[in-house]
Amino acid sequence: MKAIVVTDRDAGMAGMKLAERPQPKAAINDVIVQIHASGFVPTELTWPSTWTDRGDRDRTPSIPGHEVAGVVTALGYGTRGLSVGQRVFGLADWYRDGTLAEYAAIEARNLAPLPGDVDFTVGASLPISGLTALQGLFEHGRLRAGQSVIAHGAAGAVGSMVTQLAREAGAHVIGTGRAADRQKALEFGAQEFVDLDNDVLEDVGGVDLVFDLIGGDIGKRSARLVRAGGTLVSIVGPSEARPVDGLAIDFVVECDRPQLSDIAQRVRDGRLRTNIGTVTTLDKAVAAFTPSERRTGKTVIRVRPEDSGSGRASYA
Ligand SMILES: NC(=O)c1ccc[n+]([C@@H]2O[C@H](COP(=O)([O-])OP(=O)(O)OC[C@H]3O[C@@H](n4cnc5c(N)ncnc54)[C@H](OP(=O)(O)O)[C@@H]3O)[C@@H](O)[C@H]2O)c1
Repeated sequence: MKAIVVTDRDAGMAGMKLAERPQPKAAINDVIVQIHASGFVPTELTWPSTWTDRGDRDRTPSIPGHEVAGVVTALGYGTRGLSVGQRVFGLADWYRDGTLAEYAAIEARNLAPLPGDVDFTVGASLPISGLTALQGLFEHGRLRAGQSVIAHGAAGAVGSMVTQLAREAGAHVIGTGRAADRQKALEFGAQEFVDLDNDVLEDVGGVDLVFDLIGGDIGKRSARLVRAGGTLVSIVGPSEARPVDGLAIDFVVECDRPQLSDIAQRVRDGRLRTNIGTVTTLDKAVAAFTPSERRTGKTVIRVRPEDSGSGRASYA
């Protein structure tokens, strides 16, 4: 099968290429997914899990990309809840070969049914951003109606989901980002916008929750804005500063089948809008990993052509 592989940690992006790889086999509790669309996170080549297995042994050549939408073609022994021919979407394990490929072996528990009216391109854009926003806001941040939230990077993949989910929960949302992101952040539901390059973040005053996906100096300054009893939720590692009288939490998103189904239902209802920036093919995935110009929104790699699904997105 065709797949994008990385082989040399020191070479990083320079070593990324389209290659032939053996067809994956379904281990216990796995299914084989014929991949229609795949999503990746641009920082993946810096993650240890891209290069090693859970025992810290080298696992190269490895296939990056962990978000998937596709069709189940085979079931491993002991697999429950999915059947051959079923449309699915979800997350491949960080430490296993990923989804920038024609097929992947994925634990069934990491997949949920993809409703027939949600196309594969949309399905592949949702798992990481949707689950991260949901878990960060409600499980780790314990957000309640009436609270105020800073959604950093509100025009980005995760930030746009944070903004929409927080608004729907009845929170007041202050989005942040670059000057060019203002309109997009407001369209996703932010009630205020802070241009981090030109406005003063501190002018926002105190908030109940900060969702930090930038870190560094912005993370430290954000910690000081958390009100007593509030929470700083970071998805970019442990915060360098903690709120004086609040919590600081950092976490890594986990797959959860009921939450994936909840996200798909919100998309079908029109309550959640995905944030797809670029759609391209597997042949062009290496270039998509290192775009020459700034892109906002999620890049989705359409591995199989759209007539094999119900896609409507256009190719870049
Ligand atoms: N822990 C987890 O489970 C988890 C899950 C998902 C994502 N993440 C991490 O979260 C981060 C964001 O992911 P994403 O997919 O949402 O990325 P993204 O789509 O690139 O969104 C990030 C947004 O924040 C903006 N931004 C970043 N630094 C900024 C700064 N200093 N000032 C103003 N705007 C800034 C970016 O603009 P520019 O492009 O112009 O910088 C972009 O619009 C990544 O580091 C990713 O690895 C972690």
